[in-house]
Amino acid sequence: MINTDISTPIITYLKQLESQGITDIEIICEKLFQQLNRQIELGLYSNDRYIEFGSDVAGTVVSATGNFKVECILWCINHYLGLNRNANVINKVCEAVKKFGTGSGTSALSGGMSSLHKEVELKIRNLIGKENVILFPTGYSANLGTLSALPGKKDLILFDRESHASLIDGIKLSGKKWMTFKHNNVNDLNLKLQKYSQNFENIFVVVESAYSMSGDIAPLREIIELKQKYKFLLYVDEAHTFGIYGKNGAGYCSELGIVEQVDFIVATLSKATASIGGFLATKSKYLPLLKWRANSYAFQACLTPSDAAAILASLEEIENNPQIVEQLHHNNQYMRQRLTSIGFNLGTSKSPIIPIFMPDEATLISLNKELFTRGIFSVSIFYPVVKPKEGRIRFILSASHTKEQIDKTINALQELGIKYNIIPPSPLAEWQDDGYSWTQTPESSLV
Ligand SMILES: Cc1ncc(COP(=O)(O)O)c(C=O)c1O
Repeated sequence: MINTDISTPIITYLKQLESQGITDIEIICEKLFQQLNRQIELGLYSNDRYIEFGSDVAGTVVSATGNFKVECILWCINHYLGLNRNANVINKVCEAVKKFGTGSGTSALSGGMSSLHKEVELKIRNLIGKENVILFPTGYSANLGTLSALPGKKDLILFDRESHASLIDGIKLSGKKWMTFKHNNVNDLNLKLQKYSQNFENIFVVVESAYSMSGDIAPLREIIELKQKYKFLLYVDEAHTFGIYGKNGAGYCSELGIVEQVDFIVATLSKATASIGGFLATKSKYLPLLKWRANSYAFQACLTPSDAAAILASLEEIENNPQIVEQLHHNNQYMRQRLTSIGFNLGTSKSPIIPIFMPDEATLISLNKELFTRGIFSVSIFYPVVKPKEGRIRFILSASHTKEQIDKTINALQELGIKYNIIPPSPLAEWQDDGYSWTQTPESSLV
């Protein structure tokens, strides 16, 4: 029997239909379409909403069908530093559009780059301290292109079980042998390296410095220690750490002083640096193969000159105003300590991504719906995006979130957490104010 529970998320429902042996895509699509429409009608569907005037820490959220609008504090956007609203960044982008025009028109390989794109590559190369940098149109296509193109016929790719879809897609597209290891588990990685290191020409170990669904930080130092025992190439995706860790935002590998030991550093430019694009920083010897075999590099138009200008201006802001990054980390500390002190389960998260784990899907959906009616918006994350029974609401912090916005969110969560029996009725501990001065990030909300 098909489970037609109205609150079953679309992606979970799809899995259920497939597991019941339904293969006809016409039937599957019809059922998903009906489920989605019923969820939209009942306000249970939190995806596909959009922000009327674009990404920020607060704004007007418009429903998927456009038939209602709610003023909300926003927790689903990866602009960690709020630089997409920074006056200097916006001015530089406007200047770039006037001088360089809009689209880039073709791929980097076919002449789509401008001097601004080249400046981005050089700037990131110097910032991270790798021999070379290659710019991709997005973070997704940087992973897709690199991992599909690089591994050889007799290689093995070992990757963390909670890796981002772009890493997994790249690995699968490569057609090479792959295997997962348990999330952040160096012992499991060690066992697999021990078992397989003799059987393959090269082993690629693929991890993220901070994980997008959990906010967990990877044990990179311990992973690098394994290099003393086994020969492997280490690939680190810094999507959630580039721009917000390390000197001048050089990333988490730079903060740990391990850039040299990491063979491939990839990151997106759509998060801390408020633009779009992705890069790979590595040794120059890998670039000819990549440029000619990574289809997402060779056959995809590159980012626009104004995207490149936004990246350059964002990196300049990070360098000139370190207090923006400090504000982000302070917001993170404040919010997670208060949430923990009132009894929420934040898992093992540490980076400025706070997952609040929910006991079951029904609670997750109802609680998130109530949060939305109180003007607090974030998306629900369910199986199969995360493991079954590990559903969560994810709060992505920005330096631009104000104390008032954070407090309002925590108060609503506390009230609802008690109502749904997720946290004890009285606070476990009082939050101690550390006297930090809550200055709004300079110019972050001027525009
Ligand atoms: C770990 C990780 N890698 C890659 C990407 C893809 O980046 P983009 O969305 O900029 O293409 C993301 C995006 O969320 C991510 O979280």
